[in-house]
Amino acid sequence: MAQALKKLTAQVLKSNNVEVITNNFIRANSTWWSNVEMGPPDVILGISEAFKRDTDPKKVNLGVGAYRDDEGKPFVLPSVRKAEEILHAAHLNHEYAPISGEAEYTDAVAKLAFGEDSQVLKDKTNCTVQTLSGTGALRLGLEFVSKHYNKTKEIWVPTPTWGNHPQICNMLNLPCKKYRYFDPKTNGFDLQGALDDISKIPEQSIILLHACAHNPTGVDPKLDDWKQLSEVIKKKKLLPFFDMAYQGFATGSVDNDAAAVRLFVKEGHQVMLAQSFAKNMGLYGERAGALTFLCGDAESAAKMMSQVKIMVRTMYSNPPLHGARLVKTILTTPELKTQWLSDVKQMADRIISMRSRLRNGIEGAGNKRSWQHITDQIGMFCFTGLKPDQVERLTKEFHIYLTKDGRISVAGISSKNVDYVADAMHKVSS
Ligand SMILES: Cc1ncc(COP(=O)(O)O)c(C=O)c1O
Repeated sequence: MAQALKKLTAQVLKSNNVEVITNNFIRANSTWWSNVEMGPPDVILGISEAFKRDTDPKKVNLGVGAYRDDEGKPFVLPSVRKAEEILHAAHLNHEYAPISGEAEYTDAVAKLAFGEDSQVLKDKTNCTVQTLSGTGALRLGLEFVSKHYNKTKEIWVPTPTWGNHPQICNMLNLPCKKYRYFDPKTNGFDLQGALDDISKIPEQSIILLHACAHNPTGVDPKLDDWKQLSEVIKKKKLLPFFDMAYQGFATGSVDNDAAAVRLFVKEGHQVMLAQSFAKNMGLYGERAGALTFLCGDAESAAKMMSQVKIMVRTMYSNPPLHGARLVKTILTTPELKTQWLSDVKQMADRIISMRSRLRNGIEGAGNKRSWQHITDQIGMFCFTGLKPDQVERLTKEFHIYLTKDGRISVAGISSKNVDYVADAMHKVSS
């Protein structure tokens, strides 16, 4: 401050315009926002920035969770291209969407998640609204919890989980607690640890579950594990909140990937569900998603809908049209839906084949460690088990970018770079 005052005095002495200089000084040193401190940069975006700055031709970005084709390029699904043509030809207007989204959209996405013949949908005990992709669904769901849930407001998330889960809880001042999930010894699911921890969660808390293709580990419980989880969750009267950001991406089948959600519903859980079409339709920037609350009966679903609408109205009034129109067109046009199911399978299959080639490449180089987890894990991500110093070497020496926890996006691997990545992983880990 003393230094700043000295500078100001010198400027005033030199200038005729005392008023302007003094005002500038006041503005610079005392704004309405002088209490606001610089926040940490987003980890994933930070990796992408560093990748962009790297001029080495061999560089590989395995940080970002977006699908790439075998040329390493963003992929627009053929089914999405056709839906775009249909929408273009329809010359639609740009009126506001309903607060909860178009009913044809919400009906179609609920069917995709819960199944065509789902009893809860027939009984209309679901309250489903369009959201701003998966993040918007999580945020709206937890915002609703913070205002209207009058039970135990603790949110229990797996260790580890997607970084935005605890961040959203923090924003809303909801306590975020952790249950065991990933076992670093096996690089697989810690069923016993999860069951033990869940059995100690205070009754009526909310438990967050990744429906499939767990981010960041790529480790999913088997169907029999889900049955055991469902039992303990029911016994503890917990409210399961499923985050389904990758339906179809894990196994290539949208029905297989919804198995956990459907099992829980069959077992009588009144689940909450966040859906995203960012990954499985490649609609990242279109922000098409949905939030569902299953309720005991149609009347309570209608009451919930009235309150959710009030909440949406005060946050963003109504959702964007274009992404939802694409999703609705695909899901409700039989030929397009068939095309889309094959597009999703194509993406999942490419990832599965890259997992095998990566594992074979590392093992083929004579690496003594077990790399079976690369092919056991599922979905877009692989938790490699590489330690932070090995990750650092991958980036510094080999120009391969990934998060410090050793997570790689397998979608960033292609037939062009897989041998290079495998060789680098072998070198840093042996
Ligand atoms: C576990 C998980 N949930 C939700 C999302 C939400 O993504 P979006 O808001 O782009 O739909 C993501 C995206 O990376 C995710 O990995």
